[in-house]
Amino acid sequence: MQMKFLKKSNQSMQTIICQHCQRNTGHQLSTLPKVYRPSSVNTAKNIQTIICQQATKLSTTNYTRQMSSTINPEELQKFRLLSQKWWDSRGDFAVLRAMNSLRIPLVRDGLKHTGIASLKATLGPKPLDGLKILDVGCGGGLLCEPLARLGAIVTGIDPLQENIEVAKQHSAQDPQISGQITYLVSSVEEQVQNQPSYYDAVVASEVVEHVDNVEVFISSAVDLVKKGGSLFFTTVNRTWLSYVLAICIAEWGLRIVPRGTHEWSKFIPPVNLKEQLESKNCHIQLLHGMCYNPVTRKWSWITDSSVNYALHAVKLNETHTT
Ligand SMILES: C[S@@+](CC[C@H](N)C(=O)[O-])C[C@H]1O[C@@H](n2cnc3c(N)ncnc32)[C@H](O)[C@@H]1O
Repeated sequence: MQMKFLKKSNQSMQTIICQHCQRNTGHQLSTLPKVYRPSSVNTAKNIQTIICQQATKLSTTNYTRQMSSTINPEELQKFRLLSQKWWDSRGDFAVLRAMNSLRIPLVRDGLKHTGIASLKATLGPKPLDGLKILDVGCGGGLLCEPLARLGAIVTGIDPLQENIEVAKQHSAQDPQISGQITYLVSSVEEQVQNQPSYYDAVVASEVVEHVDNVEVFISSAVDLVKKGGSLFFTTVNRTWLSYVLAICIAEWGLRIVPRGTHEWSKFIPPVNLKEQLESKNCHIQLLHGMCYNPVTRKWSWITDSSVNYALHAVKLNETHTT
């Protein structure tokens, strides 16, 4: 169950109330670190959710849950500030939109090759017809929408309410995908409680490098997939080259990604991702490097995975011993 907190409307009280049980959480606005306090009444809407994150973090009754939560409040705050920009064609997420030219075929062809997509469907215009796909950390729905257009029944989850609202509003503009996408404010560790082994595929594109407890994240993602189903990740390797290209050049030099988007220490080497997936009885089907050309604004596949890479894993039917 997700805990949400509300700041009581009476500004003078400044008391934080749990939205679920309506009890006082015991946290006062004045006791929160300065960075989480409103600088003006105009920012109250944003601040309310910032307080929510901090209140969740501070709540002692929630401590055990926090220890295994994949949610990092500082990371979420970065995306909260950008939440209205998901669909700006030349905006902060243009690089992610451009990545669809690789990741949509990756998912489509991956599911075709594992045989989980029906042969009949793969020959037609909706090759993912009826397949249940979970897009974890869906943001504004950049990936959910094209997957739904290929026939998938998509669930997009993101811990940020602001992202989910943008995603819902945007997808509502296209009647072609009406009823095919469900958006939820949620995390993998919450979803796995409700729907273990439910999905034909789980996609986590450019998310792993923003989470806490990456083992919990990967393990929950695997548990959400049915046997024979697939997991698709795109993320960033932790190498000196990724520091130079993904942070120094992309964020601080060319500014093709907003400054401060990435923490180099959170990048995950493919060998670690592979090991964790294999320990959860998954077979690594594909590992490919990806490269963005800032001049053409296009992504392409490369063999070298020392900066960006994509990985496709399949959850095995049987327990394999080596
Ligand atoms: C770089 S964006 C990628 C968005 C989307 N996957 C795409 O590629 O268009 C990272 C997203 O991960 C979400 N996120 C951060 N922490 C998360 C977590 N623990 N679980 C799920 N999503 C998370 C953020 O809110 C943000 O929407």
